[in-house]
Amino acid sequence: MRSDGNLAVMSLRRTALALLVLIGLIAPGDALKCNCTNCEKSGYECETDGACMASTSYIKGQEQHVRICIPRESLIPPGQPIYCLSAEGVLNTHCCYTDYCNSVDLQVPNGVPKHESWPGTPGSWGPVELVAVIAGPVFVFCLLLIVGVFLFQHHQRNYNHRQRLDVEDPSCDHLYLAKDKTLQDLIFDLSTSGSGSGLPLFVQRTVARTIVLQEIIGKGRFGEVWRGKWRGGDVAVKIFSSREERSWFREAEIYQTIMLRHENILGFIAADNKDNGTWTQLWLVSDYHEHGSLFDYLNHYSVTIEGMIKLALSAASGLAHLHMEILGTQGKPGIAHRDLKSKNILVKKNGTCAIADLGLAVRHESITDTIDIAPNQRVGTKRYMAPEVLDETINMKHFDSFKCADIYALGLVYWEIARRCNAGGIHEEYQLPYYDLVPSDPSIEEMRKVVCDQRLRPNVPNWWQSYEALRVMGKIMRECWYANGAARLTALRIKKTLSQLSVQEDVKM
Ligand SMILES: *[C@@H]1O[C@H](CO)[C@@H](O)[C@H](O)[C@H]1NC(C)=O
Repeated sequence: MRSDGNLAVMSLRRTALALLVLIGLIAPGDALKCNCTNCEKSGYECETDGACMASTSYIKGQEQHVRICIPRESLIPPGQPIYCLSAEGVLNTHCCYTDYCNSVDLQVPNGVPKHESWPGTPGSWGPVELVAVIAGPVFVFCLLLIVGVFLFQHHQRNYNHRQRLDVEDPSCDHLYLAKDKTLQDLIFDLSTSGSGSGLPLFVQRTVARTIVLQEIIGKGRFGEVWRGKWRGGDVAVKIFSSREERSWFREAEIYQTIMLRHENILGFIAADNKDNGTWTQLWLVSDYHEHGSLFDYLNHYSVTIEGMIKLALSAASGLAHLHMEILGTQGKPGIAHRDLKSKNILVKKNGTCAIADLGLAVRHESITDTIDIAPNQRVGTKRYMAPEVLDETINMKHFDSFKCADIYALGLVYWEIARRCNAGGIHEEYQLPYYDLVPSDPSIEEMRKVVCDQRLRPNVPNWWQSYEALRVMGKIMRECWYANGAARLTALRIKKTLSQLSVQEDVKM
C-alpha cells in the first residue's frame, strides 16, 4: 500500500511537472537528451534545451518515424508549440521533456506511450492508483482552465490598455517572443526551418499588436499605408477599411503562399484583424522601404544607365519568381500579379525593386489546371491593361494569359524607367505611359481606342539606339507590347537578357 501511495504521488507530481513545463512557467533543464533519427554522427541522439519530439506520418501510404530535438526558442507559442501539433489522419506528433522520452513508437492516433514504470495490469490497480488515474486528468483539466482564464483576462487587460494608450507595451510579448530577436531573425528562422511561408499566425498577431504607428505615407482605394515602429525597426502597415475585408484576406493569403519569399517581392511580416467592438481594423504588415514606390522615385530622381539596369533586372527577377511554378512538396504555384505598375513596385535602399500589392493576384493550381479564385474580367489599373484585357478577348481559362498581361504592364514600367535614364547628359521628364494619348484617369473605352483600335504604344525615341543599354531596353519593351499576348517575352527571358546586359555594362547587383 505504501508503494502504491508513492506511485500515486509520483504520478501526480509527474503530471504537474509536465503541465508546468507545458505552460512554460519553469525552464526545462539544460541538455535534455533525445533520440534523433537523422543524427548518424552522434549515435542517433541529440541534446537540446527544449523538447524531444517523436512523430509518425503517413507519406504515400508509408509510415515514417522521425525523432528530433527541438530548441527551446522554437517552442512557440507556449502550451501548443507549432512543432508539436498533430495533423488529423496524417501526422501524429508528441513532444516530451525527459531524457529519451521520444523513443516511443507512435502509431495509433492519440496513442499514449505505455507507462513502463507501472507494475501490474489495469485489472490489479489498487484504490489509490484508481484515484490517481481519475483525479489526475481532472486536476490537469481544472488547472488548465484556471490558467486559461487567467491568460485570457491578462490578454484582455493588456489589449484594452494598448487600445487606450496606443504605446508599445513590452510586458506582454515576452511570453511569445524572445526579447532580443529582430523581425528578420524571426522570419529567417521560420522560413528556413518551417513551412517557408512566414510566421505562425499567433506570432503575426503579437507582432502586429506591438507596432506603434508613426506617420501616414500613402492612401489608396483600400485604405491607408503607415510607417510604424516595431522593436526600433521600421515596418509598413497597410490598414484596410472594414468594407475591404475581402481584399485584406486575399492579399494576406497570397503573401503567405508557400515559398513566395524573394528579395524582389515585398517581404510580408504579419496580418492581423483587431476587433475593437465597433469596427474591425485590418492590418497587413510588411517591410518598409524609405524610397517608396518606383513612381515616386522616378518623379524625384533621374537614373544612371547602371541604375536603370538594376531597377529593370530586379523587377524582372521578382516577376519571374512570382510567375514561376515550383513543383514538389516545398513548391510554389505560379502567380500572376494583374495590377503591375510603377506605383505597385517599391524601390529598396540598394536601388533594386520589390514587387508589392498582390491583392489582385491569382494562383494557378497545376494539378487541376484551375485558377484559385474566379477571376473577374477587368481588374487592375486601366492605363496598364493589356489590349486583350481592354477588349475582353483574354482567355481566362488559360493561366498563361494572365502572365502575358503582366508582361505587357512590365514593358510600360520599363518605358517609365528608361525615360528617366541619364545617358550623355540627356534624360526626359517623368511621365505616365500614354500620357500624350489619353486624359488623366482614362476610361476603359478611351484606353481601348488607343491601344486596341489604333494599336498605339508609348514612343521609343530614336536616340536610344545610340546607347546599348537603352537600345536593349527599347527592344524588350516592343516585345512586351505585342497585341498577341502569346508572342510576348516571358519574365525569365527578360531576366536573362538583362543579366547579360548587366555583365556587359559591368553593373554590380
Ligand atoms: C533511444 O535511445 C536510447 C539511448 O541511446 C536507446 O537505448 C534506444 O534504443 C533508442 N530508441 C529508439 C527507438 O531508437
